[in-house]
Amino acid sequence: MNIKDIIENKKRGNELTKEEIEFFVNGYTKGEITDYQASALIMAICLNGMVIREISDLTMAMAYSGEVLDLSDIAPNIVDKHSTGGVGDKITLILMPIIASIGVPVAKMSGRGLGITGGTVDKLQSIPGYVTDIDIKEFKQNVKEIGISLISQSMDLAPADKKIYALRDATACVDSIPLIASSIMSKKIASGAKNIILDVTCGKGAFMETKKDARVLSKLMKYIGKNSDRNVMCILTNMNEPVGYSVGNSLEVVEAVKALKGDMSEDVKEIILTFGSYMLKMAGLGDNIEENKARIMKEIESGKAYDKFVEVVKKQGGDISYIENLDKFEKAPYIMPVLSPKAGYVADLSAELVGRASVELGAGRQRKEDEIDPRVGIIVCKKTGDKVEKEEAIAYVHANSPEKAEEAVLKVKNAYTIVDKKVKKPSVILEIL
Ligand code: URA
Repeated sequence: MNIKDIIENKKRGNELTKEEIEFFVNGYTKGEITDYQASALIMAICLNGMVIREISDLTMAMAYSGEVLDLSDIAPNIVDKHSTGGVGDKITLILMPIIASIGVPVAKMSGRGLGITGGTVDKLQSIPGYVTDIDIKEFKQNVKEIGISLISQSMDLAPADKKIYALRDATACVDSIPLIASSIMSKKIASGAKNIILDVTCGKGAFMETKKDARVLSKLMKYIGKNSDRNVMCILTNMNEPVGYSVGNSLEVVEAVKALKGDMSEDVKEIILTFGSYMLKMAGLGDNIEENKARIMKEIESGKAYDKFVEVVKKQGGDISYIENLDKFEKAPYIMPVLSPKAGYVADLSAELVGRASVELGAGRQRKEDEIDPRVGIIVCKKTGDKVEKEEAIAYVHANSPEKAEEAVLKVKNAYTIVDKKVKKPSVILEIL
């Protein structure tokens, strides 16, 4: 078997055999297959797709490219969570400490930013000192000791996905259902949780633009989960506009910490309460969703959820003085307002355009080896349905150069559609599958 024939097969739209898929995944993980060969195959998969059997084989080959954890010795009721990606998506940073503080152990492996969507790992790394790449032993130990560990994709767990993920980001091969499903499910299977809740984002700032595609992706991931004895639940969420009010790494950490202290935007609150209450249910801590929501609010109000976040930051080497005093996060040197061109109501705020602007500011990567600037990003002050006055600041751009600031101001202005008539606020939770 050789990689050129495998690429040729997929280029012609043929189904790959299990052996061919394993040959590619193992060869690429070991460095025997080059980045350019892997890129060619990934692009062919993007263009020609895969049948369910190929996607399952790809998922399992990627999951077993490294260690597959068994967390049953820590707790049987671990619930893992993953998002298919979004703009301003800081939900993991808020939700997981809440859940851990209520008593559901959290062992979560996250990714870097991908395309225009941000990554939890990049956000965590904007906390000075926070180490995301700890080894598996320490990961498990942390979960045992404090009930939570938030790490990056270690080279021990699903290493094939780590390599393919970075390659896809740099070669415009992200928005492919087979590649997204196998990427997410391989990591989740390798991480060892039996219960998995997936935030399947849908809209202009997500990889799935339509509900139809989001449903296809959800059903596929549930199918893969079932075949590997995992209980998978999917919630479709609206990603037409950014989540919350900040986009960019340290800006989002600041928003997350404030949320953990109870200062949450309405959309973030709805996502947190919905996901959190279903996670408690999956963990066997209560079937009544409304009661679970009340329990989550209580956990936030008591300060215990915030304390749990401080605990995990400390455990993983982060400097908690930044969390205790958010003003310590270094600010970008150029902060410019985006002024509303007219009075009226926000009819649309394109997550895609805001996401693009934030990547160009340096909050995401253009190439896989690019460094992120944790300070830069965008604060949106007005979202869909909000009333605005002419010349009012509707957003702020945080940039590391005046040129980038000016470009981003124009882009963010274009991301807004402002109309004369009142506009209803959109729902955030679209469907539960
Ligand atoms: N999140 C992942 O982990 N992988 C993808 O492909 C998309 C989102």
